Amino acid sequence: MVSVIPQPLQVEPGTGHVPVATLEVHALGLEPTAPWLADLAARLLSSVDGVAATHDDPASEDAPSGATALVLRLDAHAGPVGSTSPERYSLVVDDGGVTATAAEPVGLLHAVQTLRQLVEAPRSGDDPARVSHVVVHDAPRYPWRGLSVDVARTFFGLDALRAVIDVAAAYKLNVLHLHLTDDQGWRIESPSRPELAKLSSGSDTSGGKGGHLSLADFRALQDHAAERFVRVVPEIDVPGHINAATHVYGDLMPDGVATDAYSGIEVGFSRLTLDLPATEPFLRDVFTDLAHATDGEHVHLGGDEVLKMEPAEYARFVELCERLILEAGKKPVAWQEAAKAPLRPGTIVQYWDTHPMDLTYLVDAAKAGARIILSPANRVYLDMKYTADFGLGQEWAGLVEVRDSYDWEPEEVVPGLPVDTIEGVEAAVWTERIPTRDALFTMLLPRLSAVAEVGWSAPERKDWDDYRRRVAREAHAWRRAGIAFHESAQVDW
Ligand code: ACM
Repeated sequence: MVSVIPQPLQVEPGTGHVPVATLEVHALGLEPTAPWLADLAARLLSSVDGVAATHDDPASEDAPSGATALVLRLDAHAGPVGSTSPERYSLVVDDGGVTATAAEPVGLLHAVQTLRQLVEAPRSGDDPARVSHVVVHDAPRYPWRGLSVDVARTFFGLDALRAVIDVAAAYKLNVLHLHLTDDQGWRIESPSRPELAKLSSGSDTSGGKGGHLSLADFRALQDHAAERFVRVVPEIDVPGHINAATHVYGDLMPDGVATDAYSGIEVGFSRLTLDLPATEPFLRDVFTDLAHATDGEHVHLGGDEVLKMEPAEYARFVELCERLILEAGKKPVAWQEAAKAPLRPGTIVQYWDTHPMDLTYLVDAAKAGARIILSPANRVYLDMKYTADFGLGQEWAGLVEVRDSYDWEPEEVVPGLPVDTIEGVEAAVWTERIPTRDALFTMLLPRLSAVAEVGWSAPERKDWDDYRRRVAREAHAWRRAGIAFHESAQVDW
């Protein structure tokens, strides 16, 4: 099998190969829709050992002689026969060079990510890097393949988040969910409530100085994501996990007294109170601000671990936040607990907590029109320790080795869940015990690539032993890029 993560749907190997020491990217018809794509393709391919890629600049007289052509072209017929996924693509490597076709520009980037992994490094000094002849037709299993990053407990800024997007896109993930607020910090500028970031972003659980994303940062992050066809889904977590706001506004508290700042790691102690006069205006302001700053269709309202509230008040909170997000022109997403409240059809619910035995409420919500994202903590919470003695992360959901993140079947996670209500899968990394950027990537890799294969590849194409081989090969790219990862004992690096 070829060495690509996530495993493509259809691969027909050929017999020859083409040299790719010099590659010239020709983008046909992409100027109006994705003018950056040829340049991005050239940069991605040039990151591979032994490859120098350029894109043809009409003004340039000197195309590299002897270069192999990589043609990027839109074609509605690209991809596996019968696939209607907007992300489908085909990649053909033969004596004529390399041709990528796709229904939409996103598929062309996926094709380039596949090609990048197909490059065989030079075997000796004189050998050029090369790619074996192959025909790939590929499309994803699920439309939502995400990663949630908690920037509230430990703040990670624009540079780190751009690097996270690059790694996610390398494995064809297409959603970056940002957990922007929690007890420990408010990490996004809210223009109608500037005090939030000003007064509640100066610390974190790592003893660091915290920080927040300005709207300009958020703009730049979304631009970076959009060029890689990654959608940013921002979350303001209510009505619990809210100490960063009650620390700023005493009128969100029944006794009118603002709470102390918090940099510990307990959960479930903070809450809003719906019937206080300040509560609805606060929610309206922060969700409307966030919706206006967001390019994508979705805004996440949190809703998890509200341990100190009666169900009736909780349900009214969910109803209100759904309505505010819809009024601001976005579609709501919420953690699993929100499915205990009556939801509007189309709201996306994110399953995470693997402890409850009875998930009837979630199945019922799906049957009533909710879409489900699967983030089972014992598989895809990438802040869980790999092994008991691992120095980073937590273990309340169990130890999560690479194989745990790889070997699971989304359709079997929630008994009785109609499979056609599954929108996709999303990994998550909570950052209470992840103090640095290297620590963050050590927790993400290699497990994120395993989750990517769960979300993208057809179940019959998955194979743990083969994945072990492929992921060891990817480690070269991580080392070359200086990206930290965990050399799990489950893989022969
Ligand atoms: C969560 O882990 N509390 C969503």
